[in-house]
Amino acid sequence: MQNQVKKIIKKYRVKDVFTPSTPAKHSFVEREQKTSNSLVKALSTPGKQIIIYGHSGSGKTSLLLKTLERTYDKYIITRCMEGMSFENLIADGFSGLGKYYTEEKTNTKGFKVAPEVSASFLGIQAKLNMEMTSSAAEKQKLLLPPQLTPQQLAKFFGEIKACWVLEDFHKIHPSEKKKASQLMKVFMDTSVEYEDVKLIAIGAVNAGRLVIEYDKEMNNRVSEIHVPLMNSEQLRKIILKGEDLLNINFSYDAIDKIVNISSGLASICHQLCLNICFNRDIMETSDLGEKLTVSDVDAAIEEYIEERSDTLKSQFDKAVKKNKKEDNTNEIKELLSVFCRTDTAEITYEELQTYLSTPPKKFPLHKVKNYLNELQAPDRGEVIVLDNHSGKYSICDPFVKSYAKCKIKQSGNLNMNISAQHFKSILFDEILAAFHKQIHLDVNNLDIESMENFDFDED
Ligand SMILES: Nc1ncnc2c1ncn2[C@@H]1O[C@H](COP(=O)(O)OP(=O)(O)OP(=O)(O)O)[C@@H](O)[C@H]1O
Ligand SMILES: [Mg+2]
Repeated sequence: MQNQVKKIIKKYRVKDVFTPSTPAKHSFVEREQKTSNSLVKALSTPGKQIIIYGHSGSGKTSLLLKTLERTYDKYIITRCMEGMSFENLIADGFSGLGKYYTEEKTNTKGFKVAPEVSASFLGIQAKLNMEMTSSAAEKQKLLLPPQLTPQQLAKFFGEIKACWVLEDFHKIHPSEKKKASQLMKVFMDTSVEYEDVKLIAIGAVNAGRLVIEYDKEMNNRVSEIHVPLMNSEQLRKIILKGEDLLNINFSYDAIDKIVNISSGLASICHQLCLNICFNRDIMETSDLGEKLTVSDVDAAIEEYIEERSDTLKSQFDKAVKKNKKEDNTNEIKELLSVFCRTDTAEITYEELQTYLSTPPKKFPLHKVKNYLNELQAPDRGEVIVLDNHSGKYSICDPFVKSYAKCKIKQSGNLNMNISAQHFKSILFDEILAAFHKQIHLDVNNLDIESMENFDFDED
């Protein structure tokens, strides 16, 4: 009842507190010291370039933005997309600087740019604008004004003491990436003259080198920072912060359920909390101190499945589709079924091989590595993730895992011709069952013998 008498000092909108699709705002929780300290140190070290990597949704952008707020006055973000050329990248970074160079006349931000640098910026800007309007209609490739070299761009960043963030850098085509690693070198060299200039590349991959392959000579001047998935304590804190800001109150078992189902992914935690609030008509900080229970969580999960069912379907279909040369759908399903064991959260390559080679199975073991690599790529929906630190593989999130389990079960049962609605209810039961069986049991407990009896119908 404590919340009911709480004096509401400030009201927050629920959508600013629970942010499933955008970087964390008011409910930002501190990350592990090691990660945040390395980032602050790298941001504060002149000349140090930064690569931030980790599982999609692990909180890379949120952590960087929060840390930049504390360390840098200005930063430009370029969101990389597939098909983006090196020239597009440079043009985007340059355009991002525009507001600072044009604001310079009014000097609202209280910084001074040397007049000759400003003049050179505005000259290039005029040429680039012309090129961009004509190139859309007439040309395939953007031609940068010759004065807009990577060196010059780095100087423009340096002059206003800004750093440049390249988001989703893993999406850039390998041929363009090579040039971009040179860009990192240019920024590094420019820091001799301008100490704040810095390039930060972020990639949803499991090794820093997969974001940018930089030269060995740069080893000591690049900081690779891994952002892991969130632990239960951090997820719990998101909910507790939300409770505090919105004056609501989740029961203990409701919190446990959200934390467990989220499986390290804060976006699931935010989405479930948001669904719960919306379902209970809570749009902003409550005056009443509403109590939220497990049945609110169940309704939110059901809704979440409903919202994601198309995405889950297309992700699974991508994962098991035939390839051009042969129909390997059944082999991929068999491989995925190992992960679908409710008590198999993460698994090593060796454990997978052991399971797949246990008679009467006749899995072509030489293909396992290839399949695992393919299943991590966008072409197969990125359904498998490899944790480079532990060397273990797992299915990317519990919803995909439960979906795969239900689908494999369905396709193994020829009489199981069910409606989409019925399928969703099976999926819902499966997700709750997975929650009850604690999907994150230690892989050391993996019992190969019991997996032999793996039968979906018994669950
Ligand atoms: N420290 C945090 N505290 C609270 N919520 C967080 C935190 N970090 C991330 N989140 C939430 O997790 C989700 C993913 O965050 P974010 O976009 O920062 O991850 P990301 O690693 O950059 O993802 P992607 O690889 O898809 O770009 C969002 O819902 C965000 O609000
Ligand atoms: Mg991000």
